[in-house]
Amino acid sequence: VVLVVDFGAQYAQLIARRVREARVYSEIVPSTMPVAEMLAKNPRAIILSGGPSSVYAEGAPSLDRALFEAGVPVFGMCYGFQLMATTLGGTVDDNGAREYGRTALAVSKAGSTLFEGTPTEQSVWMSHGDACSAAPEGFTVTASTDVVPVAAFENDEKKLYGVQYHPEVLHSTHGQQVLEHFLYRGAGIEPNWTTTNVVEEQVAAIRAQVGDKRAICGLSGGVDSAVAAALVQKAIGSQLTCVYVDHGLMRKGETEQVEKDFVAATGAKLVVVDAEKRFLDALAGVSDPEQKRKIIGREFIRVFEQAQLEILQEDGPEVAFLVQGTLYPDVVESGGGTGTANIKSHHNVGGLPDDIEFELVEPLRQLFKDEVRMVGQELGLPEEIVQRQPFPGPGLGIRIVGEVTKERLDLLRDADAIAREELTRAGLDRDIWQCPVVLLADVRSVGVQGDGRTYGHPIVLRPVSSEDAMTADWSRLPYETLAKISTRITNEVADVNRVVLDVTSKPPGTIEWE
Ligand code: XMP
Repeated sequence: VVLVVDFGAQYAQLIARRVREARVYSEIVPSTMPVAEMLAKNPRAIILSGGPSSVYAEGAPSLDRALFEAGVPVFGMCYGFQLMATTLGGTVDDNGAREYGRTALAVSKAGSTLFEGTPTEQSVWMSHGDACSAAPEGFTVTASTDVVPVAAFENDEKKLYGVQYHPEVLHSTHGQQVLEHFLYRGAGIEPNWTTTNVVEEQVAAIRAQVGDKRAICGLSGGVDSAVAAALVQKAIGSQLTCVYVDHGLMRKGETEQVEKDFVAATGAKLVVVDAEKRFLDALAGVSDPEQKRKIIGREFIRVFEQAQLEILQEDGPEVAFLVQGTLYPDVVESGGGTGTANIKSHHNVGGLPDDIEFELVEPLRQLFKDEVRMVGQELGLPEEIVQRQPFPGPGLGIRIVGEVTKERLDLLRDADAIAREELTRAGLDRDIWQCPVVLLADVRSVGVQGDGRTYGHPIVLRPVSSEDAMTADWSRLPYETLAKISTRITNEVADVNRVVLDVTSKPPGTIEWE
């Protein structure tokens, strides 16, 4: 394993992903973990991430020197680079040499371990206030910028490397190559981690955990729960029962996709609970977004719990395991995250009631989203499921601004289906992260159709591009595609006489409207 030491601000996750893209398994550990504990994991290499602090700020995270003396190769990036410099006797100071954003890096030692085969001038992404002016003894300076004399250094003998910039971001043109040089050349690691290993390992682990008992899995129609269920199905076959709660807030065709395609691909046993009426009754008269989310979450747990009880009665009390599609970012965020503001209360399928005791099976706990997709592909799940764009647990319930009713849902389902169809037809599915289609049910505007005046509702298109949904930009879709969607929605969907485009990034806007 390669450990990525997290100094905050979300850089660590991106680094861990890049290491895995280099086919080397990586895990994130908090910077507060004692060095002895890190070393006990027998890491093949350690990467120190960037972070928001200045090394001189009061309470700034520090590192035990022992980390650099254990004989394990270390690569410091940005804050990690400065920490390495100061800990080993180099000089870092606040000399006013600030650099933010794209910066030209001059590589002075082209044949160095990190920069071998990369151009002497390259574009890198910087984000720092302090700068290193002298490397520690025994280190060779390998690159600089106009304002920073020491922008990269290495000590090949001790296998210690550092760069002031962020090689993990795409704006650093040779970042991935530099990272791979550290892993393969510096640390001597063979790139052999693949999702095939993951499937084999997880199948064995699930068999060992569940034994001859039974497991239940809640399917949401999303990628994560589908892949988790398919993995468990592969491991324990008919000992697994999948439960799909149809809350009536799904998009057109999605329930059928789970009922047919998922079952066809996996052979899993599936129980579908039709709870549309129950959810709509509970949502009647409610327009407040947080209240809607809470109601949907609560009803979901109740329905799921009831289904579990029925399965327990049928299958006997040996049903002891609940499968969940928890991903690595959730694990990192719930373990390391402190003081993160609750922007929206997210609802996940299979929220666990207190009074039923299940042991959790979470076969995707080590994986990032793109890796989950690869595992799904490996397991033979259809493209439509594996490449499905994210869809929120509360479904279309939070894409109707205003009260949720059956009529409004049907209208939104039609508009959404048109938008999805046209985006797919234009070949844009891979370019966008997702495209919420939102009905402003409480807004009306005047229009003209045929010879008559209309007084209908607007539909909002919210196409975004993103790498992890934490931040997002609005997608610059071709005008022809937007025009096609607009024309079709206003022609084909009754009561909609206007289509508008949301051109807000996140932040300040969230991806969903509620
Ligand atoms: P926001 O709107 O917070 O959305 O920018 C970020 C991502 O999360 C999805 N989302 C949810 N997913 N349960 C989920 O499983 C939820 O309650 C939920 N709310 C938002 C949203 O679609 C986007 O991908």
